[in-house]
Amino acid sequence: MNYADYINFTSIFVECKLYKQAHIGGIGDCYMGIIYTNTISVDDYNALRLTAGWPAINPEQAKAGLSGSAFVVAAKDGGKTVGTGRLVWDGGCAALIKDMLVLPEYQGMGIGASMMEQILTFLKDNIKPGWEVAVDLMAAIGKEGFYEKFGFAARPRENRGAGMDMLLCYNPMTISPL
Ligand SMILES: CC(C)(COP(=O)(O)OP(=O)(O)OC[C@H]1O[C@@H](n2cnc3c(N)ncnc32)[C@H](O)[C@@H]1OP(=O)(O)O)[C@@H](O)C(=O)NCCC(=O)NCCS
Repeated sequence: MNYADYINFTSIFVECKLYKQAHIGGIGDCYMGIIYTNTISVDDYNALRLTAGWPAINPEQAKAGLSGSAFVVAAKDGGKTVGTGRLVWDGGCAALIKDMLVLPEYQGMGIGASMMEQILTFLKDNIKPGWEVAVDLMAAIGKEGFYEKFGFAARPRENRGAGMDMLLCYNPMTISPL
């Protein structure tokens, strides 16, 4: 199943939603006990980060980042938050997918795919006819294949330079590689 086939053409978008409901579940749907919401607490967000070996974010900064996101999705199994992902979007032509995370024991169940579909559906539903949006992300090592299913392509490649990043620290004011 190539998810890019589902998200590239408006004419088959209905089919995408049908697939999602039948196999994975979306906002308001319940599949295998997993419910999706558009909020996540800072504690749950940081707990998920830690399971992936990523550092927790300063709570004030995490709260600002979550509330400043264009779209947040969280997967819940009962009261337990088992996955999250979010979209940072300028409302125009530039968007960034961040913090795609599923608890290790819930991976491989389609939760990450459902969250990606919900993020891309939100974006598609909110852009205007004729618009194009560059959607960027930084894949963790070994996760490229997951994103390729949605149409993402690794850089560098012909006519596209390498993605670049850095970490900017306030105190002391330093920058370093991530
Ligand atoms: C990457 C991640 C979000 C995927 O979530 P998931 O719920 O396990 O993925 P899904 O079960 O929805 O998988 C959807 C599809 O992607 C495939 N897939 C999942 N991880 C993959 C990988 N690392 N490489 C290639 N394909 C992958 C699955 O096989 C499945 O394919 P199928 O539909 O053909 O069967 C999850 O593994 C995770 O949280 N990892 C740790 C944190 C991390 O590294 N996040 C990525 C940051 S960039």
